[in-house]
Order: sequence, then structure tokens, then C-alpha cells
Amino acid sequence: MNLHNVEFIKSAAAAGGLLHDTVPQIVFSGKSNVGKSSVINKLLNRKSAARVSSRPGKTVHINYFLIDKKAYFVDLPGYGYARVAKTEQARWSGLMEIYFSSADHIALGIMIVDSRHPPTKDDLTMGAWFKATGCPMVVVANKVDKLKNSEKDKNLEVIRRDLDLREDIPVIPFSAEKGTNKELLLDAVFKAVEDWNNV
Ligand code: GTP
Ligand code: MG
Repeated sequence: MNLHNVEFIKSAAAAGGLLHDTVPQIVFSGKSNVGKSSVINKLLNRKSAARVSSRPGKTVHINYFLIDKKAYFVDLPGYGYARVAKTEQARWSGLMEIYFSSADHIALGIMIVDSRHPPTKDDLTMGAWFKATGCPMVVVANKVDKLKNSEKDKNLEVIRRDLDLREDIPVIPFSAEKGTNKELLLDAVFKAVEDWNNV
């Protein structure tokens, strides 16, 4: 994978639209506004790949991007947006349940949280979903450029503690703005795809 070829495949709003082919999926998840699109764009070195047909906080869509014909980057709909109607929240939960119930195509779960704050209740729910799949997982603590150096270690520790992460699950301090630890996250992505192909 060299990330040269990025193809928007589809936007799925219901169970029938989910992809179940043999291409491994790298899943990006996080609350609204945490920087999911920014993280994906940073990894892909593109300004706006991940904004395709997304209406933040309003529409519950799963966006699929095919990378070098080798893996999908899956942009899950953001959660925790206060002004979303109850019916949309229910639709989000329903879609997530279906997505995670057939998780055998997930090569890596990337859970993005805000490095400035402890995980939210919704983050904990998402964390539990990821763990239940048994798939490899990393936590990205985004917006670390907004943290003082003295706050960094403490905040990362709180994130690890609250999400109750196993030792082997890394928490990567990240900045989609500055590109901090971009290579580290890319390495995790490449390794996950390689491992997937070697099983
Ligand atoms: P939704 O699609 O609405 O769920 O949002 P999202 O999670 O995709 O977040 P998005 O990438 O749109 O970023 C939200 C805001 O945070 C934007 O104004 C970004 O510029 C900003 N942002 C994202 N990542 C970073 C970061 O690492 N540092 C800073 N300072 N700002 C960031
Ligand atoms: Mg987005």
C-alpha cells in the first residue's frame, strides 16, 4: 500500500448498503467533531477525501474508501452530537449494531478520542463495541497540539484507564492539524493489513 489510489466507493445508510466482500476494513470511529475526517485526510495526504457526501452530525452514513484496491478506510458516522433527533440517534445505534455484529472483515479499529478530555459515555460504548469484535485496535488521542506538554501524560493515562484498555492496545497522541505521529498510525494500519493477508 502506498496510498496513491483513493477511491470513494459508497455511502451506506442502512444494513443493506454495508459491504461484506473480502477486502479488509480499517475502521475510523469517534464522536462528532473529534477530527475523524481530518485524521483520515492527514493519513491519505489529501485535503478533503473524507468529506465526500457527509453531513456532519445530521446524517447517519458509513462512508467507504478503497485504498490502493487493498483495504477500505471506513468512516463511521460521528456520535454524541447533542442536537440530533432521537430517531436519528436510534438509527445510528441500529446501524452500528449491525455493522459490529458482522465484524470478521475488520482488520483494525481506530478509535479517535479528544486528548483534551476524558472519554465520553458514548466513547465508552464505542470502546465496548470494538472490544467485543476482538479485532486489533488502536486509540488515537487527537488534537494533542491543543494540550500543554505537562497535561499530555496525565490525559493519555486517563483515556487508557477510563476505556479500560488492554496493555497491547496503544494510545497514540495525535494531531491531524500538525501531523504528529502520523507515521506511527500509518505503521499500525499497514501492519494490520499485512497481518490480515497473512492469516
Ligand atoms: P464530524 O464529521 O462532524 O463527525 O466531524 P469529524 O470528527 O470528522 O471532525 P473534522 O475532521 O471535521 O474536524 C472538526 C474540527 O476540528 C475542524 O475544525 C478541524 O479543523 C478540527 N481539528 C481536527 N483535528 C484537529 C487537530 O488535531 N488539532 C486541532 N487543533 N484541530 C483539529
Ligand atoms: Mg467528518
